[in-house]
Amino acid sequence: MKKILKKITLKKVIVTLFVIFIVIQAFRIDTNNPPVDPAKDFIAVNKPTQEVVTILKNACYDCHSNESVYPWYSNIAPVSWWLKDHINEARHELNFSEWTTYPSLKQDKKLRKSIKEIEEGGMPLDSYTWIHKNAILNKVQQKTLTDYLNSLRTHEADKNKDNHEHEEHRD
Ligand code: HEC
Repeated sequence: MKKILKKITLKKVIVTLFVIFIVIQAFRIDTNNPPVDPAKDFIAVNKPTQEVVTILKNACYDCHSNESVYPWYSNIAPVSWWLKDHINEARHELNFSEWTTYPSLKQDKKLRKSIKEIEEGGMPLDSYTWIHKNAILNKVQQKTLTDYLNSLRTHEADKNKDNHEHEEHRD
């Protein structure tokens, strides 16, 4: 008797989960990108080398810009929700497509944080590089990118403070 009950319960759980899975597919995410204005875009405005452009596009732009490329699994809930959440949050923190709309102090702060994240291996996110292998940055690419971001920094006081903090990493 107990065994049968257990069986029914497990079957019910599986069926219920399956039904939930089907139902949530109705809640699709919006995969339309907001418009991109080149006059505001980080790459279009600052014109870095092709090497830096490739690194930024491969490793950052899917989340931190209005040029996200949505993969096939962005059609499958709940993964799609999780993905959209990341993009929303990332754009809120730093949107390279809106770069020129940031006041200079904010730009400087975003540059500083980006450098820190890259050096510490926090960005791009592991959950992203796990699937997007071309977003994995080797040491040379990391340095190419951080050197470039550093060259755009304008607030000298902060810059010196940071350089001092990271002294052991520099040559
Ligand atoms: C898979 C999406 C994704 C990719 C790719 C990605 N980020 Fe992020 N990033 C996020 C999310 C989500 C947050 C906000 C939550 C957090 O800080 O972890 C964030 C936060 C940040 C922040 C703010 C951190 C802070 O403490 O204020 C910076 C700066 C940043 N990312 C830079 C970058 C740079 C530079 C790249 C490319 C080398 C990159 N990110 C790649 C998703 C991403």
